[in-house]
Amino acid sequence: MPAFRTGAAALSPYQAGRPIEEVARDLGIDPARLIKLASNESPVGPFPEVIEAVTAAAGGVNRYPDNDWHDLAKAMSVSLGVAPDQLMFGGGSSELLIVIALSVGGAGTSAVYAWPSFIIYRMATALAGAEGIEVPLSQQTHDLEAMLSAIRPETTVCYVCNPNNPTGTHVPADAVVRFIEQVPERVLVVIDEAYHEYVTAADYRTAIPEALLRPNVVVTRTFSKVYGLAGLRVGYAVGQSQTLLDLRRAQAPFTVNALAQVAAITALKYPQQVQQRARLNSEERTRLEKELAAREVVYVPSQANFVYIKSHAYEALLAQGVIARPMGDEWIRVTIGAPEENERFLAALDEISESSSQVGED
Ligand SMILES: Cc1ncc(COP(=O)(O)O)c(C=O)c1O
Repeated sequence: MPAFRTGAAALSPYQAGRPIEEVARDLGIDPARLIKLASNESPVGPFPEVIEAVTAAAGGVNRYPDNDWHDLAKAMSVSLGVAPDQLMFGGGSSELLIVIALSVGGAGTSAVYAWPSFIIYRMATALAGAEGIEVPLSQQTHDLEAMLSAIRPETTVCYVCNPNNPTGTHVPADAVVRFIEQVPERVLVVIDEAYHEYVTAADYRTAIPEALLRPNVVVTRTFSKVYGLAGLRVGYAVGQSQTLLDLRRAQAPFTVNALAQVAAITALKYPQQVQQRARLNSEERTRLEKELAAREVVYVPSQANFVYIKSHAYEALLAQGVIARPMGDEWIRVTIGAPEENERFLAALDEISESSSQVGED
């Protein structure tokens, strides 16, 4: 037996939403009969121009990618209105969250985050040998006051998932700013805005201005959601240049592959397509929530591309060909899909409730 690091046995590998092919194999059915609403992915592929650019670049992958993401940082800096050195890229924002945890963690430190929230905060904290201080959500939303009180002298980092995965709730801009102002300067505040593009709430605002203002604030985002590039792995962090340089010390080389860089650069040229996809998500989200309400299904109103639903029906949905994400015993998280996928999800819910009421009648 290899001698694994002390504490490593307590870690469990990340459990992703189950891929269609795997579920089809297990159930012995045709993958075409399944829909996946389990990983908050875009229901549509990358922009056509992105596919063209990636195809054209594929012949060059005998070369290592640009380790400093020069062209990508330039394109993103224009799009965000920040300087290129106020940006850092990673193989998905998950990688950046792990880099952050490793950079500020270590034995004797602690990290504060809400629970339930994105599981990577818990995993990255454990990986960094730090203690996780998990602050329960209040009414499915971050309780920033409680999180502030939970910060201890040895705390080095605090994660705010805005909007929150899995509940889809957001914290208003004023509350985020007040929180940042009160967190001790030695604590890094990470505002995870993975679902930023989908938010429609009037009182929401990005925390990028705070990240540019303060060395202890970083905003993370991703190309995995609205840009439809989850399979290529690109995420980014925005913050002061020195903070990002310090974080890069814990990053492996070349984690943003060459095709991912080309894809992200190209995707940034089409902001109108991003807006259109976000609009479609918001229309479908409204429709889905209305349909859930009409069925008296308990759900949490969402600002993201998924809905948190009180339901035990994970297995029953699977039997109907719908892959949702189980969230403990009482809840499931369902990604907003294409209109026809959302219809199939609703039809599956109806089928399940009809057959369970028939069972009840027996
Ligand atoms: C809140 C949150 N942050 C970050 C990520 C990571 O995304 P990626 O690593 O694909 O950039 C996710 C993915 O589901 C997420 O839900």
